[in-house]
Amino acid sequence: SAAEKGGYDYFMLKEIAEQPKAVADTLLGRIDGSGSLTLDEVRIPQGVLREIDKVVIVACGTAFHAGMIAKYAIEHWTRLPCEVELASEFRYRDPILDAQTLVIAISQSGETMDTLMALRHAREQGSKVLAICNTNGSTIPRESDAVLYTHAGPEVAVASTKAFLTQLVACYLVALYLGQVRGTKWGDEIRAVIRDLSSIAGAVDQVLGTMEPVRELARTLASKKTVLFLGRHVGYPVALEGALKLKELAYMHAEGFAAGELKHGPIALIEEDLPVVVVVPSPRGRSVLHDKIVSNIQEIRARGARTIVIAEEGDEAVVPYADHLVRIPATPTLLQPLVATVPLQVFACELATARGNEVDQPRNLAKSVTVE
Ligand code: G6P
Repeated sequence: SAAEKGGYDYFMLKEIAEQPKAVADTLLGRIDGSGSLTLDEVRIPQGVLREIDKVVIVACGTAFHAGMIAKYAIEHWTRLPCEVELASEFRYRDPILDAQTLVIAISQSGETMDTLMALRHAREQGSKVLAICNTNGSTIPRESDAVLYTHAGPEVAVASTKAFLTQLVACYLVALYLGQVRGTKWGDEIRAVIRDLSSIAGAVDQVLGTMEPVRELARTLASKKTVLFLGRHVGYPVALEGALKLKELAYMHAEGFAAGELKHGPIALIEEDLPVVVVVPSPRGRSVLHDKIVSNIQEIRARGARTIVIAEEGDEAVVPYADHLVRIPATPTLLQPLVATVPLQVFACELATARGNEVDQPRNLAKSVTVE
């Protein structure tokens, strides 16, 4: 009913709008007064976490993209090697797991069969399993050694939005916590990022307030056949997530690519007026990546692409090559997905609506896939 949708036409719109609160709720009570993380709820003893020598993340769909982003954060802040694998592929390749492996299973519903089977396999090999989950008391957390709940609240739309952002927050918390518990040379950076996380909900809110041009643009692209998405570093999984949203909702051909791979194939796809969304890393931080992606934008535009550029405020280098420019607030490099994903959600939702699709219940898809 309209009341359940809180005055929005679709649950997805409501859930997109709820993201600042979902993000803030997922942080609530997990950062103490001194700016350290208190994750006592993660019932794996700190002594065990100190002995871990590898992290493996398993998940499906949108949760898998959260896992891909988590890998960058975990490896950077903990120096532990981290693999990310689609849960449906994981156990069939005889993965190397032991008691020193921490397996993180990410699932909004907590009922995805592939993810459940992957974590059962990991536990059989003696690994510790930490679930990141949005549904209290669901099967995946019940069968895990520990759980960190995302506090997104119920997500009804099939295409995941607020659950994804809170999965990212939970992944950052785990990465920072592992860094804190194990002690790394990044101690100062970890404390600074914890501070930045505390204000990130405001940044998400700010993005939501500037989405009208993105909606207008989406409507003009309703008859397109293909949209490509490019990103680097944590912007690469964001590009994959932007493409997934468009497939799920608009039933359009959409692909996400690592921008560095362009010249190894995807650039052959570029033709006149093909929309290409580019997620640009911050010009501060890892500025080499920024400069490389600016050249990528130049290259595709020279070949006729219509460039839709998502870039930090104050990033002037992209302006000459952006047919459409979407501004996002400055954040630390690793946290950028929290703000960069939002325009892609809005874009896909509006494009789907313009094409007359049922946004909350896309054809052929289910909210939770409980068969293998
Ligand atoms: C289904 C949903 C996706 C979701 C995926 C994983 O395919 O349509 O939106 O990302 O399952 O779901 P989970 O509940 O495990 O996060």
